[in-house]
Amino acid sequence: MEGCTLPCSYSPLPAESTPARHRPPKKATLMAFSGLLMLGLVLAIINGYRDSDVRANGNASLDKLKSSMPLPSEPLQPVSRGASAGVSEKSNLVLAGVNVMSFPWNNTMLSWQRTAYHFQPEKNWMNDPNGPMFYKGWYHFFYQYNPNGAVWGDIVWGHAVSKDLIHWLHLPLAMVADEWYDINGVWTGSATLLPDGQVIMLYTGSTNESVQVQNLAYPANLSDPLLINWVKYSRNPVLLPPPGIDFKDFRDPTTAWYTSDGRWHIAIGSKVNTTGITLVYHTKDFKSFELLNGVLHAVTATGMWECVDFYPVSKNGEQGLDTSVNGAEVKHVFKTSLDIDKHDYYALGTYEKANGTWVPDDPKIGIGIRYDYGIFYASKTFYDVHKGRRVLWGWIGESDSENADVQKGWASVQSIPRTVLLDKKTGTNLLQWPVEEVDSLRLSSKEFDKVEVRPGSVVPLDVETATQLDIVAEFELDKEALERTNQTNVESISCSTSGGAAGRAALGPFGLLVLADDSLFEYTPVYFYVAKGADGNLKTFFCVDQSRSSEASDVNKQVYGSSVPVLKDEKLSVRLLVDHSIVESFAQGGRTCITSRVYPTKAIYGATRLFLFNNATEAALTCSLKIWQMNSAFIRPFHPDQDT
Ligand SMILES: *[C@@H]1O[C@H](CO)[C@@H](O)[C@H](O)[C@H]1NC(C)=O
Ligand SMILES: *[C@@H]1O[C@H](CO)[C@@H](O)[C@H](O)[C@H]1NC(C)=O
Ligand SMILES: *[C@@H]1O[C@H](CO)[C@@H](O)[C@H](O)[C@H]1NC(C)=O
Ligand SMILES: *[C@@H]1O[C@H](CO)[C@@H](O)[C@H](O)[C@H]1NC(C)=O
Ligand SMILES: *[C@@H]1O[C@H](CO)[C@@H](O)[C@H](O)[C@H]1NC(C)=O
Ligand SMILES: *[C@@H]1O[C@H](CO)[C@@H](O)[C@H](O)[C@H]1NC(C)=O
Ligand SMILES: *[C@@H]1O[C@H](CO)[C@@H](O)[C@H](O)[C@H]1NC(C)=O
Ligand SMILES: *[C@@H]1O[C@H](CO)[C@@H](O)[C@H](O)[C@H]1NC(C)=O
Repeated sequence: MEGCTLPCSYSPLPAESTPARHRPPKKATLMAFSGLLMLGLVLAIINGYRDSDVRANGNASLDKLKSSMPLPSEPLQPVSRGASAGVSEKSNLVLAGVNVMSFPWNNTMLSWQRTAYHFQPEKNWMNDPNGPMFYKGWYHFFYQYNPNGAVWGDIVWGHAVSKDLIHWLHLPLAMVADEWYDINGVWTGSATLLPDGQVIMLYTGSTNESVQVQNLAYPANLSDPLLINWVKYSRNPVLLPPPGIDFKDFRDPTTAWYTSDGRWHIAIGSKVNTTGITLVYHTKDFKSFELLNGVLHAVTATGMWECVDFYPVSKNGEQGLDTSVNGAEVKHVFKTSLDIDKHDYYALGTYEKANGTWVPDDPKIGIGIRYDYGIFYASKTFYDVHKGRRVLWGWIGESDSENADVQKGWASVQSIPRTVLLDKKTGTNLLQWPVEEVDSLRLSSKEFDKVEVRPGSVVPLDVETATQLDIVAEFELDKEALERTNQTNVESISCSTSGGAAGRAALGPFGLLVLADDSLFEYTPVYFYVAKGADGNLKTFFCVDQSRSSEASDVNKQVYGSSVPVLKDEKLSVRLLVDHSIVESFAQGGRTCITSRVYPTKAIYGATRLFLFNNATEAALTCSLKIWQMNSAFIRPFHPDQDT
């Protein structure tokens, strides 16, 4: 395979994979869609096989793009990618239509943006996490990958393995677009480990006619712990869009769960008009499936649901749960990725086995709450059989211009995998926390005890360079100031409308300035903002302000964030993982998370600094911190004879 940058030992699939003849939909899949009617959704029957005028235009020829790159100071004209081919928008359109001038990025600046301990391929474009699992001593990670360029297109499955979810080794591509049923893209899918040791991979293929179908694949050799070779089932596709569902609205099968009726169940996201829905199929063999009556969940006006995830969390325990666990001690998380706003939402509820629906704990919760208030999309969890935990992966896209991505030769990183647990204290949200293995990257540390930060001041923290850090911090506001502060209308406050870190109020903003330079020409505040409501109770917001993060104007400058529950007697606490152009921020043990991509031009390499700031007008604060320099994870190609 020419132009392939990963080790190119991908070999044609064994005999099983010969192209199958196009089969008509099974009777079963045509059956009983009446559950939707039950919900009052009168379905227009659409012929799922009408031809499509819109073709995948994901041909990312690097040369073509390079030659079309604007000269410095030319307004950027972002182009749409993905949407016409039948997936969500893959380019950063935040910069569109506002006459943003492109910045004269040079290689020194762009090279710095590559991360040191987050997962990225060696080059080119990456998006959704796929099929994560633990198998015979290795964590496996697959991902949506364009081997031909740094923009979305030509999607195949990249593959990497790790012993600890941090130190990844690249393997050959797991699956490429070589069958009529995935020739326009080997799209997102999930793994299911069967009790008898089989590994089932279900994924969406975009066919030669751009129809979204579900396909089955499995390892060629179950004795190979690296699962290098994958076989596509000879009678793929195993699922076609059912009647009433548009041929481009049927994608991203979940990991299967087993129920007492002796069948495996999978969920697939879709929509009917503007109502997002989740279809459920059951199967005994992963080859023939039957569509269940009704939907698992539906929410009006939310559009297409991508990358649905459905999994149990323990009400009392500290362990994660395997996907099939259910019962009185369990809540079920329903998560979906919204095509219309590119955000991931989840809600807690109960899986009603009797009628196959999921009922949210809070009937007013709508689509739910965000996993992350920054950039974090198309996420997927898996049950880690090795450590008995549930682990969340999320795709972190770029928020600079596509031209800059093409220039640097890569786009996107993955979040540090996060352990997911129910927050037992609130009972209404999850706690997300970086997997414990990331701690193994901690090098030297510095502790700062009760640093005082007066209102309106900035305090440098002497940690030398500050590009690869793990920061744990606790803040305490002056109690007297809290007492004397007047009440305000907290309903009118939000991270994005309160002026960012420069919008001063009695009790905030205050926090850390990361990726800053000595002169504070560039800096990114990660901060709390506290306000006293009309009832006298405090409301706390957790935000990241990107408005001063870069001299360049062709990068996202939004203020991200949301309110975060702070319980009585809790201190305000954060953990930040800083790794070059990504900052992952976790407040109150992971109740609220914000991931941002930051592209400084001067606060890079040895010039990167860290500060505390307090822009409250009334309250002084003290802050105690522990800060570690972080090692690189040395993510590299796998070599059979290396000592892993
Ligand atoms: C797509 O592939 C199927 C199966 O090989 C074939 O029957 C069909 O004619 C193809 N469609 C186009 C437009 O080539
Ligand atoms: C979808 O929208 C069309 C056009 O507005 C309408 O005729 C149809 O009834 C809608 N279908 C459902 C299920 O709401
Ligand atoms: C992509 O573009 C290249 C060069 O323009 C061309 O040779 C190739 O056939 C294209 N591939 C597809 C799938 O359109
Ligand atoms: C890129 O620009 C910076 C700032 O102007 C400069 O310090 C650096 O040397 C430049 N690097 C290259 C490779 O030109
Ligand atoms: C399957 O994998 C095992 C372990 O890597 C290896 O010893 C064996 O030769 C492989 N079998 C085939 C048929 O490739
Ligand atoms: C399913 O059962 C639950 C529990 O009895 C009930 O609350 C819910 O409304 C039912 N859903 C449907 C669609 O029948
Ligand atoms: C609180 O409100 C009172 C009455 O409006 C005002 O006199 C006082 O200055 C306010 N205090 C603060 C800290 O803003
Ligand atoms: C604090 O607020 C002032 C006044 O709005 C602003 O100029 C300054 O940049 C803010 N400090 C930080 C660190 O954002």
